[in-house]
Amino acid sequence: MKILLAGATGFIGKSLVHSLGEAGHHVTALTRSKTKNNLPCVSIIWDASSVGTWSKALEGTDAVINLAGENIARRRWTRRQKKRILESRLQTIQALFDAMDRARQKPKIFIQASAIGYYGPSTDQVFTEDNGPGTDFLSSVCQRVEHELVQAKDGDLRCVALRIGVVLEKGGGALPKISFPFRLLMGGHLGNGSQWFSWIHRQDLIGIIHHVLENSSLHGAVNATAPEPVTLKEFCRTLGEVLHRPSWAHVPGFVLKILLGEMSEMVLYGQRVSPKKLLDIQYPFLYPNCRDALEAILRPASP
Ligand SMILES: NC(=O)c1ccc[n+]([C@@H]2O[C@H](COP(=O)([O-])OP(=O)(O)OC[C@H]3O[C@@H](n4cnc5c(N)ncnc54)[C@H](OP(=O)(O)O)[C@@H]3O)[C@@H](O)[C@H]2O)c1
Repeated sequence: MKILLAGATGFIGKSLVHSLGEAGHHVTALTRSKTKNNLPCVSIIWDASSVGTWSKALEGTDAVINLAGENIARRRWTRRQKKRILESRLQTIQALFDAMDRARQKPKIFIQASAIGYYGPSTDQVFTEDNGPGTDFLSSVCQRVEHELVQAKDGDLRCVALRIGVVLEKGGGALPKISFPFRLLMGGHLGNGSQWFSWIHRQDLIGIIHHVLENSSLHGAVNATAPEPVTLKEFCRTLGEVLHRPSWAHVPGFVLKILLGEMSEMVLYGQRVSPKKLLDIQYPFLYPNCRDALEAILRPASP
């Protein structure tokens, strides 16, 4: 397939570029950066605020994947930063759809990154794709992103919004931040630890994206999480065991609220998400449980 990928230089994107290339697909990356584009594929500089010459890259592509957007954990959630988080996503979707409108030969598939934050927090509910949205900031961002997709969808374009869980792998995302205190023998959970933690190994997420590209039965919202979510306390206990470090310390919620402001909601509250659509088609997860995932990521490979 010919695939256009926005957000290719990020934590998920970089790994996806490699994997799509290895599978024989032709990937073109859209990036805002002249310096970060040392990717093993063609890179084109774009600016999502206008449809410029970059839009020619869309001609004749089979699929568009949009992972671009301001990182939600990059800065404190001031009003300005919240606007940036939302608008960077809406703008990239809009720009890609405007460019598709102009293309003579249009793509057939559009995959958009959304997140499990769509559902809002809950301590007891199990969320599948059939559940409605929450009411907090992250949920409102995911709702707007998915609404934009529905509004822009035209003709027989197959659109998939991946509601991605916390992606685990070395070298980026949440895991290095969570495991850092463990390496200093200061590991433990955040808040009261009873919040649900719906995670996914990056390799499984990449596999799911391949599957969505190749499988026309998947459309609309798809939960991209491992089938066995855990509470944060259980996750941290397992992390400590895998790292052979104690998990004893705990950072109380009020401290996180002072340190992180509204962003503390991201770690203090969670949701228990089931990847129902993927389980229904018996998607073969490589890492359904977090111990296997953490061991694969953190244990050094044997010589
Ligand atoms: N990682 C996770 O655990 C996780 C969980 C749930 C959902 N997601 C979602 O999945 C997507 C990809 O995640 P990721 O972890 O790979 O993110 P990431 O590492 O932050 O990368 C996102 C990419 O988006 C582009 N970008 C950053 N700020 C932007 C802005 N203001 N406007 C336009 N583009 C911008 C950047 O590419 P260039 O600089 O090359 O343009 C960057 O490489 C995001 O939408 C994220 O919210 C991730």
